[in-house]
Amino acid sequence: MSDKSGAGPEPVDLLVSGAAELATPLGSTARGGSELDRLQVRAGWGVAATGGKVVAVGPDADLRRIYQPKVEYDAKGGTVVPGFVDAHTHPVFATTREDEFEMRTKGATYVEISLAGGGILSTVRGVREGSTEVLLAQLLMRLDRFLELGTTTVEAKSGYGLSTYDELKMLGVIAEANRMHPVELVPTFLGAHEFPEEFRDDRAAYVDLLVNEMLPRVADEGLAEYCDIFTETHVFGLDDSRRILTRAKELGFRLRLHVDQLTPLGGAELAAEFGADSADHLECVTDRGIEALGQAGVVPVICPLVALFLRQTQEVPGRRMIDMGLAPAVATDFNPGSCYTQSMPEVLSWSALRMNMTAGEVLTAGTLNAAVSLNRGERLGSLEPGKDCDLLVLDVPNHRHLAYELGRNPVRAVVKTGRVVHERR
Ligand code: NIG
Ligand code: FE
Repeated sequence: MSDKSGAGPEPVDLLVSGAAELATPLGSTARGGSELDRLQVRAGWGVAATGGKVVAVGPDADLRRIYQPKVEYDAKGGTVVPGFVDAHTHPVFATTREDEFEMRTKGATYVEISLAGGGILSTVRGVREGSTEVLLAQLLMRLDRFLELGTTTVEAKSGYGLSTYDELKMLGVIAEANRMHPVELVPTFLGAHEFPEEFRDDRAAYVDLLVNEMLPRVADEGLAEYCDIFTETHVFGLDDSRRILTRAKELGFRLRLHVDQLTPLGGAELAAEFGADSADHLECVTDRGIEALGQAGVVPVICPLVALFLRQTQEVPGRRMIDMGLAPAVATDFNPGSCYTQSMPEVLSWSALRMNMTAGEVLTAGTLNAAVSLNRGERLGSLEPGKDCDLLVLDVPNHRHLAYELGRNPVRAVVKTGRVVHERR
């Protein structure tokens, strides 16, 4: 914090003060092992921001002495934390799948429903029929909800079009929403999410289409930062995945992968081999897979609510990974099939309950580590000078209430790049 004595207070755009506590991880790299729990927690600290960036984080009295804010926001005894970064979502869809939710309560599994033509393909039918306008209006409504729940950055996948036209349509909708809405979207091309109906009898031809037409078009139009694949026995196996990843890398995409969700196929090892930024799901990952991720510096993105939603009873391996020194992120996996929630507060609670994570661990996993998994650790994920001023004012006395209060939204206000963009009515 600078104190230009004699020059008078320095003008800034925003000062957030009056918090009982400020809690944030620190740094721009993913925190793992015992470091995951290490937060900076300070009573009575606030944040000064200008030009969208954090200028200083410190005791209210010091900030008031040094800075003259255009806007002072009173946190009213609440808690200030960084905005949540949701590193795995499928937010563009036109129809919902409550019928499948009920089928699973009666014992059907996710794969059985998919093989019978439901699952992802049911959402594909809705997206293909949906106009750009309808998909955009629905996405914008969902982005409002993300903001209300404290999420300021969202990774957004395509993958419900499964034709060149419909995948470009989805990515175009994501790009347009990104221009229109304060939530920052990170676009991911997921053409390899399922085999579309028309290629069910010639799967190799769909992989050819992905490699020869879809990926190059998406790259040409600059519509996605990431390429993702659902690598799983009933969809894209290791050989198909390798072919797609090789082409995606040549075209300059960064990589993130759905791996080892339903079977221990070796997808974690594949993500490590290709230097992906993240490997997601991992419910069935082996210790060897975890070691490979750790050695390659791939961020595991764990979605603990999916196991709940799909009624998987096995361990969700976050704790095992942390104990092996890894630096996981946590995410919603918001989508109409395997996890219909947008709530990061709920994810943090379930990370504590299902993976024995501490309050510090869940906050770091849902902010800094998630930002690093999206190649944004230098700019997002913590409250420090020079980073974007993305913060939440929570109506709780300390950050430990985030995991502790199950099922209530504690977000009172949201600041995105230095601007108050949401206040609870
Ligand atoms: O992350 N696993 C594959 N894809 C999504 C599910 C998408 C869907 O069922 O619509 C997931 O769980
Ligand atoms: Fe997913």
